[in-house]
Amino acid sequence: MKCSRCQQDNPAGARFCGQCATPLVVVCPDCGAASPSDSKFCGQCAARLEREPVAKLAAPHAYTPKHLAEKILTSQSALVGERKTVTVLFADLKSSMELLLDRDPEDARALLDPVLGILMEAVHQFEGTVNQVMGDGIMALFGAPLAHEDHAVRACYAALMMQERVSRYAEELRRGHGADVQIRVGLNSGEVVVRSIGSDLHMDYSAVGHTTHLAGRMQQLARPGATLLTDATLASAEGYVEVKALGPTPVRGLSEPVPIYEMVRAGSARTRLHASMARGLTRFVGRDAEIDQLRVALTEAGAGRGQLVAVVGEPGVGKSRLFYELIRSHRTGNWLVLEAGSVSYGRTTPFLPVHGLLKSYFKLSDGDDARDLRAKVTGRVLTLDEGLKDLVAPLLWLLDALPDEHAFMALEVDQRRAQAVESVRVLLLRESRNQPILIVLEDLHWIDAATQTLLDVLVESIPTAPVLLAVNYRPEYRHAWGSKTYYRQLRIDALPRESAEALLEPLLGTHPELRPLQRMLIERAEGNPLFLEECVRTLVETDVLIGQPGAYRLGKEPIAIQAPTTVQAILAARIDRLPPEDKELLQTASVIGKDVPWAVLVETAERPEEEIRRGLARLQAAELVYEARLFPAPEYTFKHALTHEVAYGSLLQERRRAVHARILGVIERVYAERLAEQVDRLAHHAFRGEVWDKALHYLRRVGTTGELPRVDETFGGPESPGYLWVRGEYDHALTVALRDRAVGASFGSFGDTVRSNYRLGQIYYSLGDYPSAVEALERNVELLVGDLRRESFGLVGLPIVLSGSWLAICLAELGRFDEAVTHAEAADALALEVDQPFSLVVGHVGVGMVDLWRGEHLKAIAPLERALVISRLSDIPLLFPAAAAPLGLAYALEGRSHEGIGLLEEAVERTEAMELGANHALRLVWLGRANLLAGNPEAARRFGLRALETARKRGERGHEAYSLELLGDVTRGAPYRDAETAAGYFREGLVLAERLSMRPLATGLAGRVR
Ligand SMILES: Nc1ncnc2c1ncn2[C@@H]1O[C@H](COP(=O)(O)OP(=O)(O)OP(=O)(O)O)[C@@H](O)[C@H]1O
Ligand SMILES: [Mg+2]
Repeated sequence: MKCSRCQQDNPAGARFCGQCATPLVVVCPDCGAASPSDSKFCGQCAARLEREPVAKLAAPHAYTPKHLAEKILTSQSALVGERKTVTVLFADLKSSMELLLDRDPEDARALLDPVLGILMEAVHQFEGTVNQVMGDGIMALFGAPLAHEDHAVRACYAALMMQERVSRYAEELRRGHGADVQIRVGLNSGEVVVRSIGSDLHMDYSAVGHTTHLAGRMQQLARPGATLLTDATLASAEGYVEVKALGPTPVRGLSEPVPIYEMVRAGSARTRLHASMARGLTRFVGRDAEIDQLRVALTEAGAGRGQLVAVVGEPGVGKSRLFYELIRSHRTGNWLVLEAGSVSYGRTTPFLPVHGLLKSYFKLSDGDDARDLRAKVTGRVLTLDEGLKDLVAPLLWLLDALPDEHAFMALEVDQRRAQAVESVRVLLLRESRNQPILIVLEDLHWIDAATQTLLDVLVESIPTAPVLLAVNYRPEYRHAWGSKTYYRQLRIDALPRESAEALLEPLLGTHPELRPLQRMLIERAEGNPLFLEECVRTLVETDVLIGQPGAYRLGKEPIAIQAPTTVQAILAARIDRLPPEDKELLQTASVIGKDVPWAVLVETAERPEEEIRRGLARLQAAELVYEARLFPAPEYTFKHALTHEVAYGSLLQERRRAVHARILGVIERVYAERLAEQVDRLAHHAFRGEVWDKALHYLRRVGTTGELPRVDETFGGPESPGYLWVRGEYDHALTVALRDRAVGASFGSFGDTVRSNYRLGQIYYSLGDYPSAVEALERNVELLVGDLRRESFGLVGLPIVLSGSWLAICLAELGRFDEAVTHAEAADALALEVDQPFSLVVGHVGVGMVDLWRGEHLKAIAPLERALVISRLSDIPLLFPAAAAPLGLAYALEGRSHEGIGLLEEAVERTEAMELGANHALRLVWLGRANLLAGNPEAARRFGLRALETARKRGERGHEAYSLELLGDVTRGAPYRDAETAAGYFREGLVLAERLSMRPLATGLAGRVR
């Protein structure tokens, strides 16, 4: 027997090539007999043997459908280095071991490979990408590299399809081989960063947080035959699938139990509107003009003058809802209503919507088998008109219910399609003689070519029939009906403010405290009803709104309304569907800002003006941006703040930084004459572009906002340890934090433990108990490993960054500099990675403070300046003193005492205005020190005395020691020259510093005492 791979001749009966181990036989999945490896049919039972060749499992290009592959490859460059929200699917074969044990491995493979084939097919059916084939399982992503607005739904459907097909295959196996196979599937949704896509479509990506980890765990936790999903996936697929809640379940690697759901079956909802009907629709508002138009069309069509109405609008504006209202109105009482629509993953399935249309016409149900279908279709067609019996075969073919041996099947595919189209047309027209028909066809932007042909044919046929063809689509869909006299287009736009308010009121309730929130919502969702509903849902999920729908109260002050994941997914998918060059233009524009001056865009985009103009025209046609004004200079605007955010959010940090830096230069050139008007913008781009010197330069000119932030937002409620600490109420804070930690421990609440450790660290630091602080903070650093490093546990910054940075500062006080540097740098590096203002400031300050403490004053300046810029631009003014005060000290120590005093004064003023007591004594010491260095000993003395008093009052022991050091230095020099008093201060400070193990300070004081 010749090996197909190496051509080696092998003895008859051999199963593998003796030279290269390639299988020489293929095993029949039906009867188990072996046939030569190139056989198409089994030599024993003639069953089909063509199975997925094993080699096909190797690289993604081998199994990714061509149309997807092309789309991915043409937009490759636009897709890499992007953040994507995805659903991750893990599926693996269970009980493969038993199969493998008592069988020849090659036999077993032959039984298992078809399962892998089924898994991959299901992924591809819903346009996911199989990213890894591992042993007996696969990992697939839905939503990357190409974003899908319904990634979670697709993944759920794929999982259902896998389970169903595998169980059918298992049935065959059981009959033929007595072997069993089952699969376990796990799903989770979250972010990933697509790093690169090879020409073989292999995608490198990194998961953000524990997206993939958790999906893998779901799969491992699933019993064979089951599919498990997380909250995150369910939230985006609610209504589309039925699930059983399994309750919070401990998951290895995660601190808190995770709520888990098991998929039961597909839900009844096929569209988003159906899914939201289950939750209850909001009261219908506005749209009077559109309803009128529909009524007119209905009257016309009812009188035998067929009409075509197209409702056009962006996702979520209410196209489906408008039809829903029409269908349920009394006006369509005597009409036959047929509803169908395209689906996002249906573009490659010919006639999918027609399937739906026929199902609704023939009243078919999901449980019907081919025989039921044949009976129902034949019965109804013949009842309608015996003369139409020739329509039966093509109609059944459309429904996949025609037996293979039927003569119709012998026709060429094109002929079959043509006849099918004609049959549907004839059927509907004939039916319309009995009563008028309303055909609702939704979401034409996803239509497949075959259905489009049918639609065009229908459009031509209706003008003399009592048919109202009502279609809807998003702006990107194109058609050629514009000139038809019986065609009308209804554009629906965002709801006007009054309607938006009317929509929100029954949703939120009327409590006066909600009024600002309501305003914020309307502004943000810009009148899009779906966005409004989803934003409310997000606010409820994040406990900003508590209570019952229609009677909500504020749970906490909303800091910002995040983009709901559903909305985010819709917008990301729209952006990904743009041609790559347009998408890039949109992203570049997003870096410029929500408002995009033409002059800046032209210079930033780095391509010919004409091209940009055309690109912008397309982006306007797609309704992503619009022309805001033409005079005095053209300016474009993102249609939605949310679109802007999503476009900007998809860019990775590196690219954003580069574009911001470029924009900075462009603005400086373009507005050279009027730079003063642009300082805000300049500072923003310099900061985001990390051009630090310019950022500082422009910031000095921006000035600061006088607004005082609300402390409890950042630190937790008034009784929380964070809040008490920041107010300087250390004893009370300590009691509460210790209590919280004990509660956390006894309830196994990891979040409480982490938060309390962090607060304890801060409190002990302020009290001068550095060893205890180190112990508490070290515990967090030890606990927060792996994915936990990216969890916020309800803190404003990342606990690992905050704890690591504070730990470094405490270690520096104790003189353990090497450890301090290591922790500070690690915390800072992580902060840079997550790019979040609070963490960044704390991370940078940690590095700067450690530098200061070990005498590297110059080196300290850069990170502290960066922290200052971020604190100024972020919306968390509380951070300002944290960055400004040490920078002020660093400036002063480097001989720039005037700048230093300026900053320190501002820091002291602002903390006093905000009543932030924590560590205030230390800031006073530094302000005194800067004054001493600047040659103002009187001021230095004043601040030193205030520092000492504050430190003693609050119990800031370490800072008391620093106050004593400062006072000693002041009184020793001119004009006081009081050596004795100075020595007293030094001695007292030394005792304290030694007691607190503050080695560096103690060393300094000891030198002065001698
Ligand atoms: N006029 C309205 N009054 C109250 N609620 C509305 C109104 N219009 C839309 N909604 C609600 O907003 C949500 C989105 O509407 P709908 O599903 O009709 O959008 P769509 O335009 O069909 O979007 P897509 O293009 O994604 O299909 C629904 O939950 C719907 O009930
Ligand atoms: Mg719709």
